[in-house]
Amino acid sequence: MAEQPIPAQKAPYQAKVKAGRTYYWCVCGRSANQPYCDGAHKDTGLEPLGWKCESDGEVWFCGCKQTATKPFCDGTHAKL
Ligand code: FES
Ligand code: FES
Repeated sequence: MAEQPIPAQKAPYQAKVKAGRTYYWCVCGRSANQPYCDGAHKDTGLEPLGWKCESDGEVWFCGCKQTATKPFCDGTHAKL
Protein backbone atom coordinates (compact mmCIF):
# COMPACT_ATOMS: atom_id res chain seq x y z
CA MET A 1 0.00 0.00 0.00
CA ALA A 2 1.15 3.51 -0.78
CA GLU A 3 2.35 5.69 2.05
CA GLN A 4 0.77 9.07 2.75
CA PRO A 5 2.20 12.29 1.33
CA ILE A 6 3.87 14.39 4.02
CA PRO A 7 3.86 18.20 3.96
CA ALA A 8 7.20 19.54 2.73
CA GLN A 9 6.10 22.90 4.13
CA LYS A 10 2.71 24.37 5.04
CA ALA A 11 2.92 26.95 2.29
CA PRO A 12 3.19 26.96 -1.50
CA TYR A 13 6.33 27.35 -3.60
CA GLN A 14 6.31 30.21 -6.07
CA ALA A 15 8.02 29.23 -9.33
CA LYS A 16 8.74 30.73 -12.72
CA VAL A 17 7.69 28.29 -15.41
CA LYS A 18 8.40 28.07 -19.15
CA ALA A 19 6.02 27.18 -21.95
CA GLY A 20 6.55 23.70 -23.37
CA ARG A 21 8.37 22.34 -20.31
CA THR A 22 7.02 19.52 -18.19
CA TYR A 23 7.50 19.88 -14.44
CA TYR A 24 7.44 16.86 -12.13
CA TRP A 25 5.78 17.98 -8.92
CA CYS A 26 6.73 16.00 -5.83
CA VAL A 27 3.60 14.21 -4.58
CA CYS A 28 5.22 12.41 -1.63
CA GLY A 29 6.71 15.46 0.14
CA ARG A 30 10.07 13.77 0.63
CA SER A 31 12.09 15.45 -2.12
CA ALA A 32 15.02 17.65 -1.07
CA ASN A 33 14.43 19.71 -4.23
CA GLN A 34 10.89 20.99 -3.53
CA PRO A 35 8.51 21.43 -5.19
CA TYR A 36 9.99 18.99 -7.69
CA CYS A 37 10.58 15.25 -7.54
CA ASP A 38 14.14 14.14 -6.84
CA GLY A 39 13.45 10.40 -6.71
CA ALA A 40 13.00 10.24 -2.92
CA HIS A 41 9.52 8.70 -3.38
CA LYS A 42 11.22 5.37 -4.08
CA ASP A 43 9.62 2.67 -1.88
CA THR A 44 6.66 4.89 -0.87
CA GLY A 45 4.34 3.65 -3.62
CA LEU A 46 3.84 7.29 -4.65
CA GLU A 47 4.80 8.83 -7.98
CA PRO A 48 5.45 12.41 -9.09
CA LEU A 49 2.83 14.30 -11.07
CA GLY A 50 3.87 15.63 -14.47
CA TRP A 51 2.43 19.01 -15.42
CA LYS A 52 3.01 20.49 -18.83
CA CYS A 53 3.30 24.26 -18.86
CA GLU A 54 1.56 26.00 -21.76
CA SER A 55 2.63 29.58 -21.27
CA ASP A 56 5.53 31.36 -19.58
CA GLY A 57 4.60 32.71 -16.20
CA GLU A 58 4.58 32.22 -12.47
CA VAL A 59 2.71 29.57 -10.50
CA TRP A 60 2.28 28.49 -6.89
CA PHE A 61 3.02 24.81 -6.45
CA CYS A 62 1.49 23.16 -3.39
CA GLY A 63 4.04 22.49 -0.65
CA CYS A 64 1.72 20.82 1.86
CA LYS A 65 0.75 18.09 -0.64
CA GLN A 66 -2.89 18.17 0.51
CA THR A 67 -4.28 20.39 -2.25
CA ALA A 68 -7.34 19.32 -4.25
CA THR A 69 -5.99 21.11 -7.34
CA LYS A 70 -2.68 19.29 -7.84
CA PRO A 71 -0.01 20.44 -8.45
CA PHE A 72 -1.14 23.92 -7.42
CA CYS A 73 -1.94 25.43 -4.04
CA ASP A 74 -5.68 25.79 -3.36
CA GLY A 75 -5.37 27.27 0.13
CA THR A 76 -5.81 23.96 1.98
CA HIS A 77 -2.45 24.50 3.76
CA ALA A 78 -4.09 27.20 5.90
CA LYS A 79 -6.20 24.53 7.62
CA LEU A 80 -3.32 22.22 8.55
FE1 FES B 1 -0.76 22.97 -0.25
FE2 FES B 1 -1.37 25.53 -0.28
S1 FES B 1 0.56 24.65 0.01
S2 FES B 1 -2.70 23.87 -0.49
FE1 FES C 1 8.33 13.06 -4.01
FE2 FES C 1 9.32 11.91 -6.19
S1 FES C 1 10.41 12.67 -4.49
S2 FES C 1 7.27 12.29 -5.70
